Amino acid sequence: MDPKKILNDIISQIKDALKIGPKGLVGVDIGLSAVKVAQVSGNEENGYTLLAYGSHPLPEGAIIEDDIQKEEEIIDAIKQAIEKAGIKSVNTCIGLSGPNTVARKLQLAGGSDEEVEDQVSWEVEQYIPFSIETSKVSFHIVGENEGGGVDVIVAAAKGEVVETYKDLLIQAELKPKIVDLGVLSLVNVFEHLYFEKLEDPNHSWIVIDLGAQKAEFVIYKNHKIMFTKEIAIGGVMITEEIQRQMGVNYYEAEDLKNNGDENGNLPEEILEIIDDVVESFFAEIKKTVDFYISSTSDESFVECVLTGGSCVIPGLIEGLEALLGISVSIINPFEEIDYDKKNIKEEQLNEIAYRGVSVLGLAMRSE
Ligand SMILES: Nc1ncnc2c1ncn2[C@@H]1O[C@H](COP(=O)(O)OP(=O)(O)OP(=O)(O)O)[C@@H](O)[C@H]1O
Ligand SMILES: [Mg+2]
Repeated sequence: MDPKKILNDIISQIKDALKIGPKGLVGVDIGLSAVKVAQVSGNEENGYTLLAYGSHPLPEGAIIEDDIQKEEEIIDAIKQAIEKAGIKSVNTCIGLSGPNTVARKLQLAGGSDEEVEDQVSWEVEQYIPFSIETSKVSFHIVGENEGGGVDVIVAAAKGEVVETYKDLLIQAELKPKIVDLGVLSLVNVFEHLYFEKLEDPNHSWIVIDLGAQKAEFVIYKNHKIMFTKEIAIGGVMITEEIQRQMGVNYYEAEDLKNNGDENGNLPEEILEIIDDVVESFFAEIKKTVDFYISSTSDESFVECVLTGGSCVIPGLIEGLEALLGISVSIINPFEEIDYDKKNIKEEQLNEIAYRGVSVLGLAMRSE
């Protein structure tokens, strides 16, 4: 074995044991369109600084839902993103999503730690679409509920999926330390950014991360996640429609959608496709909001905030405002989170602001 690697391993083991260094874990977000990595310093009280960020695109169909289709390419993209970011640490927090993961708020009767644990396993068994014996479950108590019990947020993922993703990191020469859910890392950033505005216990917020293959949809109220759902809508549906109608390949369609023609304008044909597909996004969002309202009678929405690469689709904000009847805006993480000007270039800021929120949340986690 390479002596340098042995030495590095020993040093990192010592660092692990002592937990030294101001930097947190390296966040790794594997989305359909790209791998994103980030490193952050700081904490909730003193604020956070983004130290490093890197992303690397994935080829078409590298991952479908949470099923890895092109393992080598993903490992390579992780390595490239880490290299571009100039990240040297190896301890990582990865976010999972997809049909084999579940995040839910549960109202439990409460009691001792063991009693709560028992209640969690009983309840979770009813909600997860996979067997509890083979899944990884973790939960944290968010507070007491009106009935005198406790509210908990439960995160569960199919064991195999956790192992597959950990293995990807190991193959990319990283160390998986925390496996989180993408939707919880999104909420992590949202709470940090909007902290003061979330004081009113009667106000509900809608948070949406509209990515390439899915939208993470969250309703948040009174410092709690009230509801989450992964909706099967995303930018790739527009890309596929452009491919189909215009007879171009995936990469050409992405380029047409994101950059327009040679003058940077979106041709009429593309705008029509976008409008049609976005209508179907609205229908799905409306269904989800209506489901929430009918099951909780809560209609106290005050604001909707968006993130994800697809939130810049023309007409999206206006359409959502008309649909929901509340103001809709795009999350700007840099209103609250500082960044290292030596390491993060001005021209990266836009991309990070739109597409990096989830990975920022992962990098804000501490062990
Ligand atoms: N200027 C733009 N106009 C329209 N869409 C864009 C633009 N820039 C990026 N997108 C779209 O945003 C999506 C990528 O966003 P993001 O990085 O948030 O997704 P992801 O995390 O890879 O996907 P997912 O979370 O769904 O797995 C792609 O569908 C891409 O085409
Ligand atoms: Mg994403």
